[in-house]
Amino acid sequence: MHRLVISMKLVIFGPPSAGKGTQAQKLSKKYGIPQVATGDLLREHVAKKTPIGIKVKSYLDSGRLGPDDLIVQMIGERVSKPDCINGYLLDGFPRTIGQAQELEKMTDIDLVLNIVVDFEALVERAVGRRICPKCAAVYHVKFNVPQAQGICDKCGSKLIQRDDDKEETVRRRLNVYKEQTAPLVEHYRKKGRLVDIDGSSGIDAVFAQMVKAIDGIKK
Ligand code: AP5
Repeated sequence: MHRLVISMKLVIFGPPSAGKGTQAQKLSKKYGIPQVATGDLLREHVAKKTPIGIKVKSYLDSGRLGPDDLIVQMIGERVSKPDCINGYLLDGFPRTIGQAQELEKMTDIDLVLNIVVDFEALVERAVGRRICPKCAAVYHVKFNVPQAQGICDKCGSKLIQRDDDKEETVRRRLNVYKEQTAPLVEHYRKKGRLVDIDGSSGIDAVFAQMVKAIDGIKK
């Protein structure tokens, strides 16, 4: 497929399991800008037992947010890499007002795509999610089934369930979202940079709404 390279800085925003990662991977492919996913970066640190990984493991396991300073530093380093020269797609960052303020010191964001989905649907999405530990591709046992059961279509690795996708932890993550992250919706709405995306429909229909919103800002 032809990849359209444009210069654009996007944020994909929404509660846990709203479909941020799924859509970010598709948008990254379409527009030729990298997905920068805090959750994926943190899980990689945890798997490699780096100093950051050792520090954040308990936060991830319990569904709480990691410390702002550490997350901001990690993102700052990631977006300074050469592949981000034409822009990037932030997935899972910012997640607190403090993180948003630090991001504003770093750069201007072109558009925030806010995925809106009913919370009960999110629990089902999270509990049925399976991910590839090698290439971070995202599947679902019902809504996005891999071609061979339990195997990644892209790299052939065995799929796993995330430790924080147990129902109890998912519900805690949803509460953390309500308390600490949801206030960012109004923050970005006031800036005129936010567009609501109906995330209750299927993956392709959600993607079509996002493409329309992005192509709208390019005009
Ligand atoms: P992170 O990995 O970012 O988790 P999250 O925000 O909870 O988001 P998810 O990855 O759960 O979901 P998603 O919206 O990407 O949905 P997905 O596309 O996978 O963060 C994990 C942890 O890291 C946090 O709890 C925190 O501890 C820490 N952390 C991360 N960022 C941080 C930050 N900035 N500050 C501090 N701490 C931070 O889809 C979900 C499932 O639904 C999949 O199975 C998918 O196939 C399916 N699906 C997707 N779209 C649809 C659809 N339209 N219809 C049906 N099914 C769908």
